[in-house]
Amino acid sequence: MNDPPNDEKRNASSMIQTLEWTPGGVVFIDQTKLPTEEVFVTCTTHQQVADVIRNMVVRGAPAIGVAAAMGVALGVKNSKAGNRADLNREFDQICEDIRQTRPTAVNLFWAIRRMTEKFQTLQSCSIAEIQRTLIEESQHMHAEDIAANQAMGRHGATLMPSSGGVLTHCNAGALATAGYGTALGVIRAAVEAGKKIHVYADETRPFLQGSRLTAWELMKDGIPTTVISDNMAGVMMQQGKIGAVVVGADRIAANGDVANKIGTYTVAVLAKEHGIPFYVAAPISTVDLATADGSRIPIEQRNKKEVTHIAGKQMVPDGVEVENPAFDVTPAKYVGAIITERGIARSPYVESLKRLAEAERKLTQPSSGRH
Ligand code: MRU
Repeated sequence: MNDPPNDEKRNASSMIQTLEWTPGGVVFIDQTKLPTEEVFVTCTTHQQVADVIRNMVVRGAPAIGVAAAMGVALGVKNSKAGNRADLNREFDQICEDIRQTRPTAVNLFWAIRRMTEKFQTLQSCSIAEIQRTLIEESQHMHAEDIAANQAMGRHGATLMPSSGGVLTHCNAGALATAGYGTALGVIRAAVEAGKKIHVYADETRPFLQGSRLTAWELMKDGIPTTVISDNMAGVMMQQGKIGAVVVGADRIAANGDVANKIGTYTVAVLAKEHGIPFYVAAPISTVDLATADGSRIPIEQRNKKEVTHIAGKQMVPDGVEVENPAFDVTPAKYVGAIITERGIARSPYVESLKRLAEAERKLTQPSSGRH
């Protein structure tokens, strides 16, 4: 990271705080250090926020979206612009710096667009008023994300088996959102409703979000969890241990194709072969109606060292070719349902996703009272 932010150790509270706006800056739990260290990082500039997104100190589509919004607010708060024209130029640069971090999770671009729309409504305001309003907007987005996850949980819990194994891939939990989680929110809500669920968490090579993060947060909640390496998912299904699969998403195309962590596609194909329902839980902000199908979703290619090294130790011979796409696309035909905060979408997704997105738009128009 350029210009590293302050690191700070805090007492772990029972409520996982993935990210938080504070008077001293935006505070993130450092997800690269979990599960062995609970270290917090404070960003005082928007460039630092861009760095923590790029370096996956914060990750997961909805958390990236809220982080981006807070980054924009932070950049504007730090502005020394003396007039509106200078502030407009700075604003564009702030947004561009944050836009350049990660390409696949559409929530990043959604959040920047929402902050830009808010900024544009403030033409006649003083710079101090603009700064205050953008900070408030990013905090609304934080609170809305938690509420959306809880609503998703209520809808999705009905799809979970009353008992038995549920497989998840990557981390779509509190750590990937402002709180509660999408796929893990569905599992949490099912457990809160009395269902006896045992989670199978794919370790999720190469970044290990499943073994490091999903297992960490489910252990904190006391939800029974078994970590498996990714290549064990098939045999767990064959042995009848998995009753459903639920995962998150980084971008959902208009036709229901789902970009999510690399390996999700493999799990979906395996689930179909074994007759196991495969569900996706994601907020409407992850649905990208402007992208017709999954072939048009940009897939982030990450540093090959994430594959060649584990905990700093080299695992492959020098010079061998390596690939590291961070996401794959699961075709809609494998997706049994998409669980959103506005309800459950089923195939044909072109219609059902459009309907839910429209319902969301109506509820969140400025006249409905959103700030
Ligand atoms: O590379 P990451 O860790 O940001 O990828 C995260 C995922 O793929 C999640 O499953 C997705 O963002 C949904 S999080 C609620």
